[in-house]
Amino acid sequence: MFVSRREFLTSASMALGAAWRSPLWSEVGPNMPPHPGENPLLLGVDYYPDQTPEALWEEDARMMAEGGLTNVRIAEFAWALMEPEEGNYQFDWLRRALDVLHKYKIAVILGTPSAAPPPWLTVHYPDIVEVNERGERLRPGGRRFSCPTNATYRRLSLAIATQMAGAFRDSPAVIGWQIDNELTLGSSPRCYCDFCRAGFQSWLAAKYGSLENLNQSWGTVFWSQHYTDFAQIPVPLPSGADPNPGLALDYDRYQSLANASFLEEQLRMLRQTCPQHFVTTNNVGLPLDTIDLRTLYQNLDFVAFDNYPGFVDMLLEQRGQASSLGADFIPNAIALQHDFGRSLKKKPFLIMEEQVGKAGQSTFSPQPEKGQIRLWSYQAVAHGAMGINYFRWDTATFGAEQYWHGMLNHDRSKSPAFDEIIQTIKELKSLGREVLYAPYVADVALVFDYDSSWALKIQPGHYALRYGNQITSWYGAISPAHTGIDVIGPADDLENYKIVFAPVAYVITEPQAQKIRSYVENGGVFVANFRLGVKTESSQIVHNSLPGLLRDVMGVTVADYVPIYSLKQAVKFSSILAGADGECGIWADVLNPQQAEVLGTYTSGQYASRAAITLHSFGKGKAVYVGADLTGPSLARVVRNFTRMAGVRPELEAPAGVEFTVRRLGNKQWIFLLNHTPQRQMVKLPGNFRDLISRQPETGNTELAAYGVRVLEAS
Ligand code: GAL
Repeated sequence: MFVSRREFLTSASMALGAAWRSPLWSEVGPNMPPHPGENPLLLGVDYYPDQTPEALWEEDARMMAEGGLTNVRIAEFAWALMEPEEGNYQFDWLRRALDVLHKYKIAVILGTPSAAPPPWLTVHYPDIVEVNERGERLRPGGRRFSCPTNATYRRLSLAIATQMAGAFRDSPAVIGWQIDNELTLGSSPRCYCDFCRAGFQSWLAAKYGSLENLNQSWGTVFWSQHYTDFAQIPVPLPSGADPNPGLALDYDRYQSLANASFLEEQLRMLRQTCPQHFVTTNNVGLPLDTIDLRTLYQNLDFVAFDNYPGFVDMLLEQRGQASSLGADFIPNAIALQHDFGRSLKKKPFLIMEEQVGKAGQSTFSPQPEKGQIRLWSYQAVAHGAMGINYFRWDTATFGAEQYWHGMLNHDRSKSPAFDEIIQTIKELKSLGREVLYAPYVADVALVFDYDSSWALKIQPGHYALRYGNQITSWYGAISPAHTGIDVIGPADDLENYKIVFAPVAYVITEPQAQKIRSYVENGGVFVANFRLGVKTESSQIVHNSLPGLLRDVMGVTVADYVPIYSLKQAVKFSSILAGADGECGIWADVLNPQQAEVLGTYTSGQYASRAAITLHSFGKGKAVYVGADLTGPSLARVVRNFTRMAGVRPELEAPAGVEFTVRRLGNKQWIFLLNHTPQRQMVKLPGNFRDLISRQPETGNTELAAYGVRVLEAS
């Protein structure tokens, strides 16, 4: 029977909707969080009873309950208290803390503590400490300084987690687990110690099967690197010149897998001991690429991310990037992270830590403006979050994070955002289940590929070319088109999207090329930019002319590629792109159209009038090659043209700085409107709506306050 695309999408979204009616954390039987029937969201706080006098626990729990908080995340840095010496486990204090929390119906996510091994451990076993990319061993005293492959560290991490699981498996307070904390997000995301080297060698032996195969794949004949024993293979530490690109890319893959398998050991144990609990871990999303999050979250119940927009603001100012990136950069960066979080498992995700005040370790980030924390909370939910934990409850008066403000100030008075958070929790609880479980609507996909990201970091080609920057700026260019974006991997299905963007798809494998080919043949629109298909999986350059495996689909060959420095370049647009000339940033692929139509040409130098952008009709679809590194407004304009060409129609037109997302279930539809600007904004609504927060009808023009939010149900 023929099923139309519309029928397929409707039935798929109904099926998804049904699955979302019972998110994993609410399927945990006896340990459901309080009032799951009324409140589908987890709305909690990161809490540190280990850092708080016991006499205050009751007051804390009472205040949390009064404020409507549903849960806490605790204990992820309390190894020294739980195991003060090797094998001596002390959980009484934690049990008492859980009792107090449970008395107030505050559910608990327990963190396993492996991110901060205690001093006794590093004194007894100094080689658990990781070695950085310069070959220097870190020193204990901070956190996240341990080697993911070290057998002793793995044994002791698993032992403490196993003891915790045994002690708390039947605790009525516990609903789930966070394994470790932000794997790889320390000062050195890779370890280069001897354990890692031995592990790398065994992994390579399994991957390549023979030395001949490995030597061939890496091209080790170059610089006399031919290996005759796996034990000869080094890790990419400083060695007089750059490492072999194939070796360096494999090392990134190996380190990412080593961290994921470290987590997997604890996960396997938790699945056995605590089958009724959910298990996740926290990390941050793109553009950070220190670990392949698709692998990391593969067997976990859901994705959990940490979100600190103000901290990002501070870092951008510090690096002098804030003004060039513009006001939309941070809202877009958060949205990208959320879309990635949702797309990783195609499921709702949790914000494990959400900024609530000034954030920082040695310096403070700005104080969030009034309304911003509420806005960030709604933004997360708008993109598919199933809950938010605010970081943190109180503000530490000691330790490295005294400057990281919580919901309570240093003197335990309420922080400037305390009431706003409590009000937000109340509002979010009243939204009702239907809108929260309705699928997010995304007609557009943006591809993020770890191999391309890592391979390009090893050999960027231009000092300023960063895969993460390209992903962020393409996301920023797509989002004003208000289409809804999934951030997918190169192995994901493309069929459900009207248009797929794959910036700097530098590494392209045969199966990926085939996927793209059949997507376009069947009517999809595929948009790539420069450096497309340059590399094989082993980081060798392809033997045929660029774009390698995708020449037939793109309908062009690359005549030359040009990194841009002082000699500037621009693009003259034509045909459907006609408009003001655009600046070409740091790269120009010069195209030889075979069957493709030219939509833009370069304006100066030896390649003046040569093709910069092409459009190729291939099968029932279209393939676009954007050879120029378009920047700012011209990138947004060009992207908008292509989304329109692909038949993507936004639900409404929103002014700059106003974001919206759409949720749809069957024929019901909801729109989240989010004003990221400090000014009031007017939005023209495309029909009759009811505001789920104010409960008022809304038609025609609706006003959004500074940092204001509306959740509108179509009526
Ligand atoms: C996160 C981390 C937390 C805390 C917070 C504030 O990245 O997971 O443990 O350190 O930042 O620094």
